[in-house]
Amino acid sequence: NGQLVTWSGEVTDIYSSVHVLENGQTVRKRLGSIPNITSKEAFEALDAAEKAYNNGLGEWPQMSVEGRIKCMQKFVFLMLEQRDLVIRLLMWEIGKTLADATKEFDRTVDYINDTIDALKDLDRESSRFQQAEGTIAQVRRVPLGVVLSMGPFNYPLNEIFTTLIPALLMGNTILFKMPKHGVLLHYPLLKAFQEAFPAGAVNTLYGKGAEIIAPLMESGRINVLAFIGSSKVANGLKKLHPNINRLRAILSLDAKNAAIVTNNANLDVAVSECLAGSLSFNGQRCTALKLIFVQKEIAPAFVEKFSAAVSNLKAGLPWEKDVKITPLPEPNKPAYLQGCLQDAQAKGANVINPNGGYTNESLVIPAVVYPVKESMRLYHEEQFGPLVPIVPFDSLEEPLKYQIEASHGMQVSIFSENAEEVASLIDPFVNLVSRVNINCQAQRGPDVFPFTGRKDSAEGTLSVFDALRSFSIRALVATKVTESNKQ
Ligand code: G3H
Repeated sequence: NGQLVTWSGEVTDIYSSVHVLENGQTVRKRLGSIPNITSKEAFEALDAAEKAYNNGLGEWPQMSVEGRIKCMQKFVFLMLEQRDLVIRLLMWEIGKTLADATKEFDRTVDYINDTIDALKDLDRESSRFQQAEGTIAQVRRVPLGVVLSMGPFNYPLNEIFTTLIPALLMGNTILFKMPKHGVLLHYPLLKAFQEAFPAGAVNTLYGKGAEIIAPLMESGRINVLAFIGSSKVANGLKKLHPNINRLRAILSLDAKNAAIVTNNANLDVAVSECLAGSLSFNGQRCTALKLIFVQKEIAPAFVEKFSAAVSNLKAGLPWEKDVKITPLPEPNKPAYLQGCLQDAQAKGANVINPNGGYTNESLVIPAVVYPVKESMRLYHEEQFGPLVPIVPFDSLEEPLKYQIEASHGMQVSIFSENAEEVASLIDPFVNLVSRVNINCQAQRGPDVFPFTGRKDSAEGTLSVFDALRSFSIRALVATKVTESNKQ
């Protein structure tokens, strides 16, 4: 509610993803701590968000689009003052390389500025009048109410802001649940929120999601759930809402995106795109290529080249020069990845690259696993880490069957230089996933393109243009055509 509150209750310590030497031992470094608010404070935040929204009559939802844009521009100005600190915290907290951390910050600023421009266009569109069958109407875009915004650790700044910013710009008020990892980096921005927006427009929730989010959902007072994370958690949260018809959900969820490398692929292109697609930020991206199908004729050459490229990736600390592979923030992840590897090896797959899977504390060297079969965990589970399963196949029916049977449908990448073959693959896949990439890796950007998914991968659409629509609803102001208002 526009106040920075001093907290004297229970806290959670936040540790780095990077291990450091302390008293002769390598440990995750304690970087700070965050409050564990209880449901009492969470409801105070909800009260503040509801009061600021006030059934659409509050200062923020009633503010002109121009006024809201001015507040947002002030926020960007104040946010930019914190650039270096936020980038450093991205490296320490979640292990992003300097290049990736810088990209995340700058991309977020660009995203906000582009969304402001998109809002100006939307506003122009909404002020026009439409006329049909003797009725004249203005179709406005109006907010939905209180938005609960929650995001993942892999883009703790960018992805939360891809829901929070458009939701706010449309006049909604926000409850912003801090991510579990990548949380301290929001602290330098709290003052910017406080100074740029009216009290109650943005309210932050720190603490254990399991304890504070369930009661908020059960209250039925959340109008929009904006969640980026796992399908299981999203479904659980939605079910808690007592009146599902009154809840809009904007979700970006599970995905195990396949690459399909056919005998007609350009090997160099396929290798370099699959490398970036599967291992940037250690494979911790919803859009990462998490299963690579390679047609049998080309498979040995692909595996050899790909594995050599993986061996060339430098592993180390986020701020070291040319480093590509960095420590993982989730403490249990290395053990989980080992479990997947052991399962694949026990069922006949090999780790192709030397040192693949070698683990030192939170650093895991990427492993190229081949040949992967349907019976293995790595064929089905979303590893979200530096393991690259490669599946040899005979007929193109095989990757198609994988996608048909999958519970998710975000993206696919097809590698082939044969135009007829590409064309024959696009049509079936475009009805199974939300983006088909031809001879290039899977990814969310450019951010002006719609970002969504089929099946369990998403609900609603995000992007610079789509998100403004996702966080608003159309309302008509209509009257009969008369001599005086005829266009
Ligand atoms: O983790 C999911 C993100 O939406 C991936 O975004 O493709 O830009 O890395 P990206």
